[in-house]
Amino acid sequence: EKKCILSGAWQNELGSNMTIFAVNKAGQFSGLYLTAVSAAKKPILVSPINGSQHIDSLEQPTFGFTVKWTFSDSTTVFVGQCFVDDHGEETLQTMWLLREKAKSAENNWNATMVGTNIFTRIKGQKV
Ligand code: BTN
Repeated sequence: EKKCILSGAWQNELGSNMTIFAVNKAGQFSGLYLTAVSAAKKPILVSPINGSQHIDSLEQPTFGFTVKWTFSDSTTVFVGQCFVDDHGEETLQTMWLLREKAKSAENNWNATMVGTNIFTRIKGQKV
C-alpha cells in the first residue's frame, strides 16, 4: 500500500493552491496557502498554514490545519483525510470552517461559514 504524504503542492476545485512543507516526527507541519477566492474585499495575499497529521496511521492519515489570512481578519480551519487510490493518486478530502470577525457578540450568529474542498496533487512541481 502506498503512503499518503501531505507534503507537497496541492490544488482544490476552486483553483486555490497550497504548499505543505516537511512533516516532522510529531506530525506537525507548516505551509503556505494562496486562495483563488475571498469573502474579503481586499487583494489576496499568500497566507501561512499550521497543522498536524496522525503519524501512527501513515497510509491514509487524518489531519487538520489553520490558515491565518494575512489580508483579512478571518481564520479558516480545515480537517480532512489523505486518501490514495489503486493508481497511487492522492486526494485530500476536507471540510472547512471560515470565521469572519463579527462587530459584536450580537453579530456572532452568522460569522462562520462551512464547506468542503477536495485537493489533488500538483504534479511536476518541487516543494
Ligand atoms: C477571507 O475571505 O477572508 C479569506 C479567504 C478565505 C478563502 C476560503 S477558505 C475556504 C475556501 N477554500 C478556499 O480555497 N478558499 C475559500
